Amino acid sequence: MSDALSPPPPTSPAAPAGAASHSHSATGARIIAITSGKGGVGKTFVSANLAAALTRRGQRVLVLDADLGLANLDVVLNLHPKITLHDVFTGKATLEEAVIQAPGGFNVLLAGSGMVEYSRLTPEVRNQFLSVIQALTPQYDVVLLDTGAGISDVVLFSISLASEVLIVATPEPTSLTDAYAAIKVLAMQQKRQHVRMVINQAARPGDGRAITSQLQQVLDRFVTTESGRPMRLIHMGDIPADPSVRDAVMRRQLLLLQTPGCPAALAIAQLANKIETTLLTPAA
Ligand SMILES: Nc1ncnc2c1ncn2[C@@H]1O[C@H](COP(=O)(O)OP(=O)(O)O)[C@@H](O)[C@H]1O
Ligand SMILES: [Mg+2]
Repeated sequence: MSDALSPPPPTSPAAPAGAASHSHSATGARIIAITSGKGGVGKTFVSANLAAALTRRGQRVLVLDADLGLANLDVVLNLHPKITLHDVFTGKATLEEAVIQAPGGFNVLLAGSGMVEYSRLTPEVRNQFLSVIQALTPQYDVVLLDTGAGISDVVLFSISLASEVLIVATPEPTSLTDAYAAIKVLAMQQKRQHVRMVINQAARPGDGRAITSQLQQVLDRFVTTESGRPMRLIHMGDIPADPSVRDAVMRRQLLLLQTPGCPAALAIAQLANKIETTLLTPAA
């Protein structure tokens, strides 16, 4: 296997043995972290709609709201869960009670607003997170982690649970410099050899590929992975800036359900196709 399957980061000595190997197993789900350097670039929008697109392709999908501090997957999906990850962490509810179905037909585990206290990575948060992931993965083909932005301990820990990382960036210089910083940390701290890129809010077709290769040139010069090779960026797709996205968010609807033919929805469907063919087993 040429995939970079990352070991747990050096910051997680308390992780039980085999903690990371679950994501490599043939039976469990692929775990894909959807992350970014800067906030507000479209992680939650991509997570929710990609989940809907993969579900439509026959995959069993779970989205975990791993943005514990600033959770908003519930808002985008117009869900008002009575039970959240917080209740699971505190032992007030079981996982089965907390996993609910989203409008796109996939399952979600929502963080809820009570999660602010988990914005620091304590051994408890780490262990809770791990056991939730371990319990969930056997039931799905793919688990998407809608992570927080940036390089805080909690964000990096949630990314470390994933076998693949999808970085969402916009063409804005601030988004790209922050993406660069995050990618550098993932190379150094998690010893990843590659990450995957989605350029959201692209102005023109082809922009994303050009941006990814510019970023690759900077990585080639300044970031070497443990193997001695440069960190490799794999361009997975572009999503155009599209007014329908804001409309869907305002109405708290999935874009894929509300305007499935709009440019951004078509781009998400294409991204799902690429993810399925490169990372998943196509559903029969
Ligand atoms: N392709 C796009 N076209 C237009 N607006 C977008 C697009 N992607 C995201 N947005 C806008 O950006 C906002 C923030 O997206 P969100 O997914 O909440 O970001 P994040 O989870 O990274 O913080 C959305 O509410 C939406 O209005
Ligand atoms: Mg978000």
